[in-house]
Amino acid sequence: MKKRVKIAFFDAKPYDRAWFGAALRDSNFAETEFEIDYFESKLSASTVKLAQGHDAVCAFVNDRVDRDVATDLEKYGIRLVALRCAGYNNVDLEAVWERVHVVRVPAYSPHAVAEHAAALLQTLNRKVHVAYNRIRDGNFALSGLVGRDLYGKTAGIIGTGKIGKILGRILAGYGMKLLLSDPYPDEAFVESINAMPGGQATYVDRDTLYRQSDVISLHCPLTPENRYMINERSIALMKREAIIVNTGRGGLIDTRALVEALKTDRIRGAGLDVYEEEELYFFEDWSMAPIRDDLLARLMQLPNVILTAHQAFLTEEALGEIARVTLANIDAWATGKPLDNEICYHCEGTGKGAECVRESGAACWVDTVPPAVTSPAAPSDTEIAGRQVCRKPFSYESERFTDEDDTCADGETPSD
Ligand SMILES: NC(=O)c1ccc[n+]([C@@H]2O[C@H](COP(=O)([O-])OP(=O)(O)OC[C@H]3O[C@@H](n4cnc5c(N)ncnc54)[C@H](O)[C@@H]3O)[C@@H](O)[C@H]2O)c1
Repeated sequence: MKKRVKIAFFDAKPYDRAWFGAALRDSNFAETEFEIDYFESKLSASTVKLAQGHDAVCAFVNDRVDRDVATDLEKYGIRLVALRCAGYNNVDLEAVWERVHVVRVPAYSPHAVAEHAAALLQTLNRKVHVAYNRIRDGNFALSGLVGRDLYGKTAGIIGTGKIGKILGRILAGYGMKLLLSDPYPDEAFVESINAMPGGQATYVDRDTLYRQSDVISLHCPLTPENRYMINERSIALMKREAIIVNTGRGGLIDTRALVEALKTDRIRGAGLDVYEEEELYFFEDWSMAPIRDDLLARLMQLPNVILTAHQAFLTEEALGEIARVTLANIDAWATGKPLDNEICYHCEGTGKGAECVRESGAACWVDTVPPAVTSPAAPSDTEIAGRQVCRKPFSYESERFTDEDDTCADGETPSD
């Protein structure tokens, strides 16, 4: 008989349901059957109760897996968090160690993200966003729309992993010279660029990259060391013509320093897919509510900024791959197969840490009890032991989880 794995799926959007639904229909796991409960709420200490009665949790970039969440998950007997993303800066890896396994999707479509970075750059450089609005107003004037040729200019790429390298190839195709920065330089990549007609690439130190680049694109992970790598000091080194592109993580940039530089034309512009305080706003419709975050409001208003709401990954190919790999990760955990995509704070995804046993065993740490995957029927989204999930119109804050036997207050409606 197949094992039934019940998954509590947080921060669920219609496209998640569509692509996971398709992956469930198309996949045929020999030993596992999946049942997914989709919750609109983001995972946090106040919403983790929704996971009760499930076997695994599926989380995304703005779901928080901190110490409190890990403690509650362990209490509920949940031993797996399956991230449906590559980055894991939202997980306290130390807190989950030996409590909850964490798996991720290390690469779903690096092309999707690199192509979006190129789109942000092109849009900003040629002011396509301004032209689009003008034309809709019947304004066909060109003044103020002067851009710059990218051909012959210099692009600085910080982080030459999967995404950074693809963007490097795209920009080398435009005829740009590449300055690269990465603690682990990839000389074979440099050679492959230099073998392209007119291709020029070289690794340099970060200050040289800041000083000489016309475009600076960020493709490294957010770690404590990388937080605010773009700050007042690094901006002071940049050319006045510099355009910054960030599809990495918001915390790589000190937004206050960036806004100051954009307001004063200290740099030319910024194309941002991520923002350091994006959690509350991104992925939600705030069009009928005031934006209370003044820095975000300023970024939205500046004409030399293009802001997208963490959508770089959002292609059909990437969504299909995310769903496929996430289910395969959960299946591997449920059936005791090696957890190739597990991460822990000892190995940080490499399996090489002294205490991480993944190289010799199936997972980063050894379970004392086998995964419990034939769970009792889970409570529904709107009803857990007499409790309800209530939502205020236009508040867009996380749904509220009522006390036992309590009901939604005036002005709140049960979440559907
Ligand atoms: N906006 C989106 O939708 C989206 C989607 C996927 C990934 N991302 C972000 O993109 C980042 C890069 O993804 P990837 O798949 O290319 O990762 P990757 O692991 O393949 O590459 C990251 C590279 O950054 C390098 N690096 C680390 N610290 C650095 C530093 N201080 N300076 C320079 N380089 C440094 C690493 O050595 C590595 O080569 C992820 O960490 C994630 O935060 C964003």
